[in-house]
Amino acid sequence: MSDRDADHLPGHWLLARLGKRVLRPGGREMTTRMLANAGLSGSQVVEFAPGLGRTAREIIAAGPSSYTGVEADEDAAGLSRSVVGDRGQVIIGQADHTGLPDATADVVIGEAMLSMQTDARKADIVNEAFRVLRPGGRYCVHELALTPDNVSDDVKTEVRQALARAIKVNARPLTHTEWSTLLTEAGFEVAEVSFLPMALLEPKRIISDEGPLRTLKFVSNVIRDSDARARVLGMRQTFRKNRDNLSAICVIARKPS
Ligand SMILES: C[S@@+](CC[C@H](N)C(=O)[O-])C[C@H]1O[C@@H](n2cnc3c(N)ncnc32)[C@H](O)[C@@H]1O
Repeated sequence: MSDRDADHLPGHWLLARLGKRVLRPGGREMTTRMLANAGLSGSQVVEFAPGLGRTAREIIAAGPSSYTGVEADEDAAGLSRSVVGDRGQVIIGQADHTGLPDATADVVIGEAMLSMQTDARKADIVNEAFRVLRPGGRYCVHELALTPDNVSDDVKTEVRQALARAIKVNARPLTHTEWSTLLTEAGFEVAEVSFLPMALLEPKRIISDEGPLRTLKFVSNVIRDSDARARVLGMRQTFRKNRDNLSAICVIARKPS
């Protein structure tokens, strides 16, 4: 993970450094629903960008026949590996060229990792998911959506710029239709779509994602570090200000049989 100072660290690594473990827009609630509908038991599962391994833990608890994580960040890959242990593998690599064999996975999962890519890279990653999935396999994504679906280009640009300033990552969320198009252009059929509020830094969501003890630890870390506090409050203010145009989205797409 990056060792940059609090002013320049990507938002997800700043939150991770402060003790937050759930780093995705729809929180655990959206992940739990998505995993329940993914058909994990007995399946060969690939997770793109497992990050700190929080979802990897839940995937493994569901009894897949294999688990492979593909994580770009070496330190994060190490943390995921410590969660996965000998029940799977975590490769350090890029999700757009994983090196995994064709048509061998039943399920590919990716959370909070496509939104931060350029449009071209998003398409490369989705094509890679399509390649590694067997016919009939499911691609489950949990990402950030722009709302409403007919949001103007000006507002899209404003929201993207505000996010980039706050989280120091060039986040490029898409509308519901744009996410669906990205998936169908790669050959997928969209099977299910659901939404939850983007409430990553709202107190109620933090408690539900992290539990009371980790929430206390996170809050006390934020209070003690004034630079980090300014960043976290700035991120929350940006999410609140743009709440009418941001949402968490989950899409389960299917590779045709
Ligand atoms: C916001 S975190 C989300 C982590 C985790 N999926 C979660 O929901 O908690 C983004 C993660 O994506 C990883 N990542 C970004 N681009 C990637 C890529 N092209 N291939 C693999 N991992 C990538 C980062 O290293 C980081 O771990």
